[in-house]
Amino acid sequence: MPNVIIVGAQWGDEGKGKIVDYLSEKADVIARYQGGHNAGHTVVINDEKFIFHLIPSGILREGKICLIGNGVVIDPAALIEEINGLKERGVEVRGKLLLSKNAHLIMPYHRAIDMESERFRGTKMIGTTGRGIGPAYVHKIARMGIRVIDMVQPPVFMEKLKTNLYDINFLLENLYKVPRFDAGGIYREYMSYAEKLSEYIADTDIILNRMISENKNILFEGAQGTLLDIDHGTYPYVTSSNAIAGGACTGLGVGPTKISKVLGVAKAYTTRVGSGPFPTEINDPLGDMLREKGGEYGATTGRPRRCGWLDMVVLKHSARINGFTEIAVTKLDVLDGLDVIKICTSYKYKGRIYEEFPKEIDVIEGCDSLYEEMEGWSASTTGIRDFNKLPETAKAYIKKIEEILGVEVQLISTGQRRDELIQLKDIF
Ligand code: GDP
Ligand code: IMO
Ligand code: MG
Repeated sequence: MPNVIIVGAQWGDEGKGKIVDYLSEKADVIARYQGGHNAGHTVVINDEKFIFHLIPSGILREGKICLIGNGVVIDPAALIEEINGLKERGVEVRGKLLLSKNAHLIMPYHRAIDMESERFRGTKMIGTTGRGIGPAYVHKIARMGIRVIDMVQPPVFMEKLKTNLYDINFLLENLYKVPRFDAGGIYREYMSYAEKLSEYIADTDIILNRMISENKNILFEGAQGTLLDIDHGTYPYVTSSNAIAGGACTGLGVGPTKISKVLGVAKAYTTRVGSGPFPTEINDPLGDMLREKGGEYGATTGRPRRCGWLDMVVLKHSARINGFTEIAVTKLDVLDGLDVIKICTSYKYKGRIYEEFPKEIDVIEGCDSLYEEMEGWSASTTGIRDFNKLPETAKAYIKKIEEILGVEVQLISTGQRRDELIQLKDIF
């Protein structure tokens, strides 16, 4: 039975939530492997909208196991809020959700450091979500992180917290000039979270590997996207985890030999939230049109997303780094009504042509995008479920993407809702 990694091919918000929800009908387990509540994954069923930050997008289906892996950073208050929000809407979480003992916790001081370090960067700010994600991963790598398992061992939690606050309070008071944190207050707060979350805490790696050996269908849900990956994205304008497919193995404790497919999710155009280079960005009314028509406002922070044309230099990089076996193209309907649709096939910088994504940030920042122009379509594609019903020029657009990437398009999303989708092949 296939174990499939779903990964964002651009700068996040490609529609991973919708694709995961759709595919989870036939999956037994849906597992998140990295990121935190910086993610916002939207699922729309009929007229009801759900936005997931930490909980896998498969939770709305009956009888699925939803697992949050060790690679995810957990703000317990955010997780509890998400669980309660679902319960209020009649979605059962108990018995379906499992949280890794080894996942690291986001602490109140991580949020403070996130905000203050952004302030210090001034014009070079990353434009983070302010959720404390980066500092939590910094402490994980520095071996001073506090994990979910520590929360259920109060003396261990308190000792680690006190040791950490020794240098963190020094930094906060002396460099950032903001109030210090008190160990007692944090301790009491987190002990109450531990009580609420204890029923979900589990050895997720053991459970997941057992399910794999029982030939269950597993979906690995990536957050963010390849160009926000800490190693392969537009560093330093990235998030602090491995969003790429490789992150699924480390973030869940699953061997690479157990992965059968990698499905890249790409929007039919490109968006980005926060700062950093974006070669195909459109800074004219057409960009505004895409934002409005595509509802391109952050699912987590509500910030307007920057919009641009589809960038095949980016997608080729993504296909290579992730080893895509197939892709999903989302939001095709947003391009309805355009006379001309542009596809970026290379960059030009100081007279040199770049067909592959450059490593040099000044090249990515300063390059001109070179485009191929394609004829658009006037008919509406919203809600189309049969490839043959697409306008010929829309079919040609999809074929062009396949041809340049050398990867088959398996799903085409034609609207927000669960059933607004063309499935060309069954992944399971
Ligand atoms: P994710 O972070 O990758 O899960 O993506 P987000 O949920 O942040 O952003 C995608 C947005 O596009 C959400 O509002 C989705 O409801 C919406 N969406 C997804 N697929 C489609 C589609 O095919 N057409 C349209 N119009 N909207 C879509
Ligand atoms: P999903 O999973 C889009 C961006 C932020 C910022 C950078 C670093 O919904 O696709 P962070 O708070 O992670 O340290 O911010 O990464 N970012 C996202 N952009 N979608 C996301 O998640 C994102 N998660 C983080 O805007 O530029
Ligand atoms: Mg999102």
